[in-house]
Amino acid sequence: MNIKTLNQSTIEEYRKDDLHYVGQTTPFGKQLILHQSQGTKVWDANGKEYLDFISGIAVNNVGHTNPEVVEAIIEQAKQMLHVNVFGKSLVPVQVDLAKELAKVTPDGLDKIFFTNSGTEAIEGAIKLARRATGKHKIIAFEGAFHGRTCGSLSISYREVYRKPFEPLLPGVTFVPFNDLKAAEQAITPEVGMVIIEPIQGEGGVHVPSDDFLPGLRALCDQNGAMLVLDEIQTGFGRTGKFFACEHWNVVPDILVVAKALGGGMPLGGFISRPEVMNILTDPPLSHMTTFGGHPVSCAAGLASLNIINRDKLVERSAIFGNEIQNRLKEFQKKYPVIVDVRGKGLMIGLEFATPELTKKIVGRAQDLGLILSWSIYAGGTVRVAPPLNVLPEEIDQALNILEKAITESI
Ligand SMILES: Cc1ncc(COP(=O)(O)O)c(C=O)c1O
Repeated sequence: MNIKTLNQSTIEEYRKDDLHYVGQTTPFGKQLILHQSQGTKVWDANGKEYLDFISGIAVNNVGHTNPEVVEAIIEQAKQMLHVNVFGKSLVPVQVDLAKELAKVTPDGLDKIFFTNSGTEAIEGAIKLARRATGKHKIIAFEGAFHGRTCGSLSISYREVYRKPFEPLLPGVTFVPFNDLKAAEQAITPEVGMVIIEPIQGEGGVHVPSDDFLPGLRALCDQNGAMLVLDEIQTGFGRTGKFFACEHWNVVPDILVVAKALGGGMPLGGFISRPEVMNILTDPPLSHMTTFGGHPVSCAAGLASLNIINRDKLVERSAIFGNEIQNRLKEFQKKYPVIVDVRGKGLMIGLEFATPELTKKIVGRAQDLGLILSWSIYAGGTVRVAPPLNVLPEEIDQALNILEKAITESI
């Protein structure tokens, strides 16, 4: 592969211009300048190669810059980019993707409203649940992360990110994750929506006990609330099932997707039963977005979905996920600084004794050519989430680097 690089002065110029012209999420500037990607590998502007074991945070399930996805993008881009939406134009590739998605979503969840991102899909789910139940009270969970726009921020747990933007949505109660007794107390007939990530991602990769999600389903049924599952991070094979809710045979009222849905292009959606989704047609245009379900994103999503199905990436995620977890548990026996290894499929959390040590290990791993990341809400937990088509030799290489980073950091 011909690796494209930039010279040092251009790199320095980009660093300066990025800080000056591009809105930043931290005051520190960015570490990596990524310039090229393929499969599990990414290259920085100096041509240094990295294994990406975070997959653009659970986006690149079919690998970076997958050639079949790129081909679909090129074909669609040549044929048609954006056209008038506003309820007027039918876009065939959008329908193709919606129809294929209905084959992999839980029973009855056949209708998707396309958005551009995860947080925007959560906003749509909040509106739909409100309209469908006529109730505004929401139960969310401690440790939850659902996005950064005002509605999704209202139901995300970390106060440090919520407080500066208050007042946010009223009527939100946070309940301890995986505490069915507490949920039983909180889910009353006044509640319209219970929203949860089936496996918490940014909260630190927490898998609930087997009775928790079925218990929430029953409580929602008893109290006339909609169960909304945020599968933005857990969907599309990430946890070893197509959707994480399948681990517990729970069917939500609304399923929220994004990230891997677009195969690397921006695309999200909220999915429900047709009779529920149709509520948004009254009054006409009561929910809408200019770019949601963009033809190029849908073409990429369709190609990506075909790859996931054809190459049995869901099964692969389960098998490789188990293997990586077992090998990390061996590490845990050797290095007591590893407090816990948990997760399902290729959504794995590796918790170290302190956030400081975690950051040191992640930094060292990156120097050695392995990209990892800690959870936004749980600085001590490293996420391990490679593309689902990661190769066995790449797993070996990554785990060797990780072990070296651990031994050099403790
Ligand atoms: C579970 C979950 N929900 C919502 C979001 C927000 O999605 P987006 O960043 O596309 O707005 C994320 C993003 O990390 C997520 O992990």
